[in-house]
Amino acid sequence: MTLLRLEQVTRTVELPDAEPLHILRGVDLEVEVGDHVSIVGRSGSGKSTLLNLLGLLDEPTSGRLVFDDVPLERMRSGQRDRRRGRDVGFIFQQFNLLPGRSAIENVVTPLLYAPPAQFWRRRRLAADMLDRVGLGGRLDALPTQLSGGEQQRVAIARALVRGPRLILADEPTGALDVETGERVMALLDQVAEDSGAALITITHDRNVAALARRHYRLDAGVLTPTDADVAVGATVPVGTSAAAAPSPVAPAWPAASSPPVAMPSAFPGERL
Ligand SMILES: Nc1ncnc2c1ncn2[C@@H]1O[C@H](COP(=O)(O)OP(=O)(O)OP(=O)(O)O)[C@@H](O)[C@H]1O
Ligand SMILES: [Mg+2]
Repeated sequence: MTLLRLEQVTRTVELPDAEPLHILRGVDLEVEVGDHVSIVGRSGSGKSTLLNLLGLLDEPTSGRLVFDDVPLERMRSGQRDRRRGRDVGFIFQQFNLLPGRSAIENVVTPLLYAPPAQFWRRRRLAADMLDRVGLGGRLDALPTQLSGGEQQRVAIARALVRGPRLILADEPTGALDVETGERVMALLDQVAEDSGAALITITHDRNVAALARRHYRLDAGVLTPTDADVAVGATVPVGTSAAAAPSPVAPAWPAASSPPVAMPSAFPGERL
């Protein structure tokens, strides 16, 4: 079943005193329920711009975007906001955590607009999700008290806590070391699979790209399907093997209170 379809989508920005900037040029993309898609591309190629369109945060300049069989132009802005809140989980490149709010308050935020069953259990759900990303011991920490990687994991917990149908991840492992990145990707994969959500990952990391089922490249606003090796090769430094298999994904990460090297066999909140 198709969740999202883009037909010849463009995004152009008018600039004062300069030619218009054509960021996306005729993008076609179809995403099925439960799909896992990776998109790689150079800095400035339009990846974040595309993700904002996919997540109904922005509108195409031309072309067609259909979300869950409803064309974007037929959604009123309130409907679009509700649908985004209910169906889309964003992991932003810059995390976008609320400053001055603790980890758990950040993760609770999407649940403030959730149906009663989730709303009344919001603290429990948020705490469980933070537990799943290895931050069960840091619920009350402020973003300024967390490392970049920990902030990213809070952002991931916030994206997943409402059980979205579409998870949009912009460099989800960008601030994480290799091992933590693998665990985060395993969690994203698992949550997506458990809930039948589609996962679209933008990444420069070849191991992360290799985890997806379908691969695309974005070059100067042009999106092209590609195979894993080519997508991955685009991000591999010269002299390394593009075909290197991703390392097996570890089941869990150390609890926040454990030293980073001590690896407990399983993480307490392993269910969703
Ligand atoms: N609102 C805007 N006004 C002007 N230029 C913009 C705007 N939004 C994006 N751009 C430009 O469009 C291009 C694509 O931006 P985008 O953020 O989508 O790139 P990206 O592929 O995500 O890059 P990165 O890998 O560095 O995050 C960039 O050159 C950016 O400067
Ligand atoms: Mg970007």
